[in-house]
Amino acid sequence: MLTTISEIPAHVGQEVKLGGWLYNKRSSGKIQFLQLRDGTGFIQGVLVKSQVTPEVWETAKQLTQESSLYVRGTVRADERAPGGYELDVTHVEAIQIAEEYPISKKEHGVDFLMDHRHLWIRSPRQRAILTIRAEIIRSIQEYLNGNGFTLVDPPILTPSSCEGTTNLFHTKYFDEDAYLTQSGQLYMEAAAMALRKVYSFGPTFRAEKSKTRRHLIEFWMIEPEMAFCDHEDSLIIQEQLVSHVVQSVLKNCRRELEVLGRDISKLENVKPPFPRMTYDEAVKLLHEAGFEDFEWGEDFGAPHETKIAESFDRPVFITHYPTKVKAFYMKPDPDRPEVVLCADLIAPEGYGEIIGGSQRIDDPVLMEQRYNEHHLPMEAYQWYLELRKYGTVPHSGFGLGLERTVSWICGLDHVREAIPFARTLYRLYP
Ligand code: 4AD
Ligand code: MG
Repeated sequence: MLTTISEIPAHVGQEVKLGGWLYNKRSSGKIQFLQLRDGTGFIQGVLVKSQVTPEVWETAKQLTQESSLYVRGTVRADERAPGGYELDVTHVEAIQIAEEYPISKKEHGVDFLMDHRHLWIRSPRQRAILTIRAEIIRSIQEYLNGNGFTLVDPPILTPSSCEGTTNLFHTKYFDEDAYLTQSGQLYMEAAAMALRKVYSFGPTFRAEKSKTRRHLIEFWMIEPEMAFCDHEDSLIIQEQLVSHVVQSVLKNCRRELEVLGRDISKLENVKPPFPRMTYDEAVKLLHEAGFEDFEWGEDFGAPHETKIAESFDRPVFITHYPTKVKAFYMKPDPDRPEVVLCADLIAPEGYGEIIGGSQRIDDPVLMEQRYNEHHLPMEAYQWYLELRKYGTVPHSGFGLGLERTVSWICGLDHVREAIPFARTLYRLYP
């Protein structure tokens, strides 16, 4: 059985066999230092010429970057070593001497790296991001599963849309038209009436011609939906969920955050309660901060969100947006029908909206009225209307964008690094 680098601390003083790749190599004539990675971590192997056979010495000399190999050696604790351990190598067996590796230690442009994404993910930085992404997913599920939510999977191929058809990927479903889902929400509302508290976790698709640091064409969303839950209750779930995720990453991914050079003092404050401001208050803030031209009724763009978030050390909820800028299903504020019971959660440090959510319209008459105002195809949405006819109840839900959340927690410049193989406006390869 092979030992892994992650298990090394339990093997101090013992001889182990690892399977891995050569990440980097240094040599000082009589000693070769092999930087090894095995997918679970990194360790330096030290090869002393006088202590190995000439064959082993020669094999090690031939190893190129990313050559695959087995090595045997004795584990030594060493405080100066990056991971705290080194391997005194006794044997090296090359599996393959790799061809000249396209990604070298020198600086590469982003397009080059994205073209070589299948190899780029081997680097310590990308590995750290993908590890944190997995921890974020794990902790989201831990929170939701531990708080009475049931995982329900909505379909990906749908006959109609949820947020308007302009941004949908069209495909044929035999003789019918179909679209890739842009949100599972409508189906999750049906599921909430069956299982009360539910969530989905899956890919969603937006055929938006947006080329920003925050937009992907294919991204993953977590969509909780809760029966007998109003707008206020939903905000409490959201701030608890996001805090749990951030605190879990801080606890379980220290080393990865260090690899990324993330300033963790900016994450430590992320605990409930999160500040809240209404859309009206946000507009006032913008007017005072130099955005005098911003008019009530417009939606916020990235610069507006960044400006609003600057005043806070944790994510901020912006609530009660104008009805006309939000989706048809959002419940109007009974005291002020020109705004809806909704909230966007804006991350700090310029990362923008990570959650969009609302209380849903539960009144069948108002829902039908909205269908007409929005020219929704009544036939395609018949089932959704029926949810309001057979035992309607107050309910709310939200969608958390996974990659936006990963970007923020990791401190990334661009959301394309937050997903293993990004689909962006001009990229479908690799
Ligand atoms: O605000 P959105 O569009 O909300 C919905 O789709 C609702 N139906 C969710 C619900 O209530 N169940 O999207 C939700 C979140 C955004 O806050 C953002 O984090 C992320 O999804 N998101 C994107 N992430 C990456 N690339 C894009 N193009 C994104 N569009 C939205
Ligand atoms: Mg939104």
